[in-house]
Amino acid sequence: MATTDQDDQLVTPWEVTAASQKGVDYDKLIKKFGSTKIEDSLIERIARLTGKPAHHLMRRGIIFSHRDVGLILDAYEKGKPFFLYTGRGPSSEAMHLGHLIPFVFTKYLQDVFDVPLVIQMTDDEKFLWKDMSVEEARRLASENAKDIIAFGFDKEKTSSPDFYKTILRVEKCVTVNQVKGIFGFNDSDCIGKISFPAIQAAPSFSCSFPQIFGGKKDIACLIPCAIDQDPYFRMTRDVAPRLGYPKPALLHSTFLPALQGAMTKMSASEASTSIYLTDSAEDIRDKINKYAYSGGQSTVEEHRRVGGNVDVDVSYQYLTFFLEDDEKLAKIEKDYSSGAMLTGDLKKELISVVQQVVAEHQQRRQQVTEQMVQEFMTPRKLKYSY
Ligand code: TRP
Repeated sequence: MATTDQDDQLVTPWEVTAASQKGVDYDKLIKKFGSTKIEDSLIERIARLTGKPAHHLMRRGIIFSHRDVGLILDAYEKGKPFFLYTGRGPSSEAMHLGHLIPFVFTKYLQDVFDVPLVIQMTDDEKFLWKDMSVEEARRLASENAKDIIAFGFDKEKTSSPDFYKTILRVEKCVTVNQVKGIFGFNDSDCIGKISFPAIQAAPSFSCSFPQIFGGKKDIACLIPCAIDQDPYFRMTRDVAPRLGYPKPALLHSTFLPALQGAMTKMSASEASTSIYLTDSAEDIRDKINKYAYSGGQSTVEEHRRVGGNVDVDVSYQYLTFFLEDDEKLAKIEKDYSSGAMLTGDLKKELISVVQQVVAEHQQRRQQVTEQMVQEFMTPRKLKYSY
């Protein structure tokens, strides 16, 4: 029997399953999607151009893949403008730690490049995909907007959109056959799903935001997102030249593993896989102690002898996302791998790091008022002129 190169991992906007506890094979994914691996030279170039140290999520390979970021940097070097676009489908009232990652990274990009940012809230998407009323989806969007504002985005630089004309242009360019091929839709899917990719594509083009870009249609766009969103933007990049717009560039992140292990990602709909931004310090402690998949050995003696496996240990993986101190992280890796550090101590480190991240977020979110949400949600001119 012929051996086929069987793809036993699955990554789509709706589902993520890896082939092993080590998690998704991201190099394989880069090949499959046809994106480009982020090399050290690109990271160094960003640090040089911005005059700021490269973000730890880039240095640690969590932001691992891209499309055409070099072109954005070329333009930036020549003083040409670009803007950032990212988004959130409000599927649950409480966002979780995994949702934090693209926003933390986007906030860094906004700070170091000093450029406009649009954030698309796709309550329409969640209405179409989930069992949820239009009103409930709207309410969740507004609740999630509070979390997003609490990440610290600058109101003078952050807007959300009004862009039906662009949606129409994209809709006219893409056939049903194409979206079936890209997203796996079939004839039983509602027509809302079939056309939704045009809605996610539209903010990639500056003509969607006349208030911000004064009607210019050639301002370049950079999209930080998790790699599962790439199919939307492959489609977007495909139609861009036909509409006379620049192709958006992309920066892809890996997934935050589920607590139970890197076979899948953290998911809001499965409470025991997730640490929510609304969890208390005790919830966090209990969930990590109870569920976080351990790369340690079954007995202390065994662990001291062979050491733990950081490649599959979820607590260690989480520290690479949330512990900024490089030296401390390196020491933990060394001690855990050698067996000097036990799983309980590793978990203790993680618990205190995550408790702090979440407590700080909760404090900032408390300061966010309904009025601030209104202000961020209103289409308006930002501090930039074009
Ligand atoms: N589809 C995304 C989700 O379900 C939301 C989204 C819309 C998005 N536009 C985006 C994500 C741009 C990243 C970049 O959460």
